[in-house]
Amino acid sequence: MAELRVGIVGAGWIAGTHAATLRRLDGVRVVASADIVPGRAEYEDWRDMLARERLDAVVVCTPPDAHRAVAVACAEAGLALYLEKPVAHAFDDARAIAAAVSEAGVVCAVGYQYRAISFLPDLPRTAAVLLGVGVSDTMERPWLGDRARGGGMMLERASHLIDLERALAGEVTGATALEEGAGLAASLRFAGGALGSVVVGRVAEGPGWRLELIRDAGTVTVELDPVFRARGAGLDLVHSGPPPVERSLACFVDAAALGDPSAVCCRVDDGVRTLAVALAAQDAALAAQSALDALSAAGAPAARQERRKARRRRPG
Ligand SMILES: NC(=O)c1ccc[n+]([C@@H]2O[C@H](COP(=O)([O-])OP(=O)(O)OC[C@H]3O[C@@H](n4cnc5c(N)ncnc54)[C@H](O)[C@@H]3O)[C@@H](O)[C@H]2O)c1
Repeated sequence: MAELRVGIVGAGWIAGTHAATLRRLDGVRVVASADIVPGRAEYEDWRDMLARERLDAVVVCTPPDAHRAVAVACAEAGLALYLEKPVAHAFDDARAIAAAVSEAGVVCAVGYQYRAISFLPDLPRTAAVLLGVGVSDTMERPWLGDRARGGGMMLERASHLIDLERALAGEVTGATALEEGAGLAASLRFAGGALGSVVVGRVAEGPGWRLELIRDAGTVTVELDPVFRARGAGLDLVHSGPPPVERSLACFVDAAALGDPSAVCCRVDDGVRTLAVALAAQDAALAAQSALDALSAAGAPAARQERRKARRRRPG
C-alpha cells in the first residue's frame, strides 16, 4: 500500500494528539475528520465522510457511547480501525464491535497504550499482588463523570490499569469495587492466584500513575506517565522510542499497512475482556452501594424508635 489514508471521527482532545502523531509518521495521510460540533471538522456526519472520502483506516475518538455505530460501519466497509478505549460504554456494544471486526477480518487496535510500553515483555509475570494507582487531574469534557455514557472513573481511568494488570497477570476471575465521587478502589482476583488493586481518582496534585509488582523475588515499581520506567529487584528498564500513546498508534499504522490484525498492541478481544472486568467491578460497586443504602433506609425507623425510647427514659 502506497499511503495509508486515515479519517478521524470525533475531533476533541485525544483526536488532536492522534492527528499530530499521524502527521509525523511516514506513509500516512490524515484525509479528513468528522465531528458533530459544527466547525470542529470537515464533516459533521461521519457517514458523509465515509461515503465521500477514499479511506483505508479510521481513528475513532468519540465518547464511549458513540463508538459502536462508527466502529461497526467502518469494519463493515473493510476499513482498519484504531478504536479509543474503552471499547464501548456497554458490553453489548463492545460485543457487536468485536463481532463486526471478526466478521470483516479487519485490523482493529484498542487505545490501551500501556500495552505499547517497550519494556512490557521484560516485566515479571509472577507478581502475587499488583497495586495500580492513577490519581491525577484530567481534562474536563462534557461526558466525563457520566457513567451512562462511559465517562465514569471505572471505564475512563481505571480500565487503563485493569488492562495493564491483565496483560501481566492474565485472566480475571473476580472483581469488586467501591466508588466515591471522582475516586474508586477496585480489587481483582486473577486465575493464576494473584490479587490486583486499582485505585484511581481526580486530584490536581495527585501522585500520578504507577504499578507495583509485588513478589517474593522483590518488588518492581513501574512509573507510568509521563516517564515510563521500571525499577526494583535488579531491574532498571526505561521505555524507548516515542511515548506509548504514539507508539500504540504507529504500531496500528504498520499493522493496517500489512493487513495483519495480530500485529496491533491491544487487540479488540483484549479490549472487550478488559471492559467486561471493568463493568463487573462497576456493577459490584453499585450493588454494594444500593445494599448499604437499603440497610440505612431500613435502619432509619429503628434509629428513630431508639431515640424516642431514650427520650421517654429521660427524667423530666
Ligand atoms: N488513550 C488515552 O489515554 C485516552 C485519553 C483521552 C481520551 N481517550 C478516549 O478517547 C475517546 C474520546 O475522548 P476525548 O477525551 O477526546 O473526548 P472529547 O470530548 O474531547 O472529544 C470527543 C469528540 O467527539 C465528538 N463527538 C461526539 N459524538 C460524536 C459523533 N456521534 N460523531 C462525531 N463526533 C462526535 C465530540 O463533539 C467531541 O469533539 C474516549 O473514548 C476516551 O475514553 C483515551
